[in-house]
Amino acid sequence: MNYKELIPKLNKQKLPQHIAIIMDGNGRWADQHKKRRIEGHRAGVKAVRRIVETAVEIELAYLTVYAFSTENWRRSKNEVSYLLKLIMDSLIKEIDELNKNNVNIRFIGSKKELSKKYNKKVIETCKKSWNNNGLHLNVAMNYGGRRELLDAIQEIVADSKSGKLLEAEINENKVNEYLYTAGMPDPDLVIRTSGEERLSNFLIWQSAYSEFWFTKTLWPDFSRRDFIKAILDYQKRKRRYGARK
Ligand code: FPP
Repeated sequence: MNYKELIPKLNKQKLPQHIAIIMDGNGRWADQHKKRRIEGHRAGVKAVRRIVETAVEIELAYLTVYAFSTENWRRSKNEVSYLLKLIMDSLIKEIDELNKNNVNIRFIGSKKELSKKYNKKVIETCKKSWNNNGLHLNVAMNYGGRRELLDAIQEIVADSKSGKLLEAEINENKVNEYLYTAGMPDPDLVIRTSGEERLSNFLIWQSAYSEFWFTKTLWPDFSRRDFIKAILDYQKRKRRYGARK
């Protein structure tokens, strides 16, 4: 059954509000095809495009993709600079199309290690989409869950010291407001490709009650059909949030 035939099987009332994806396996895909790693990443961008299109088609509210982690700086200098450029160039290339589709783009992550020029470009590009109220696409860029929590703790302490925040006001909702994802719903479903079954520092606070869906498929091969199948599988699950059956 192709993905077009699967879409009507989705229960529109039970669509996850937020799907987060750990796009893994670009390097292995390149190895399998006897190509260079960068070609794996290029194929990965094509997969991002088709999944964003599908997310728009099914009217998903939030999609977050893990594009570059705070740990990815450990890769070779060449791969790092290629990846950063690829992500930015893809976004610039696609911004008009994304806008046409009413997609609102945010970058989540730490701005610290990224160059000023890069940060400026990101904001200038994304700003064009900030009035859009269709799919919210978060690109996790220089993102690390522990770093996010650390940044939040530092800000909370600073605000508390300055009197802007009272100790009694610090609760889970307040912490949410200090995260990069402030104002967004937690991911209902986290997908990871390539057979690895771990979170790798991705949305560690936000995914406390997420459902997980793993596939051996490498990210560049991840299809629209795989995406819909993950959602159909999610719709069969019972979420209890720690309560009894
Ligand atoms: C994992 O594959 C993938 C990444 C670290 C980067 C993913 C980035 C993209 C697909 C581009 C995103 C683009 C936009 C526009 C959001 P890997 O290199 O870790 O693969 P391996 O584990 O097989 O070596």
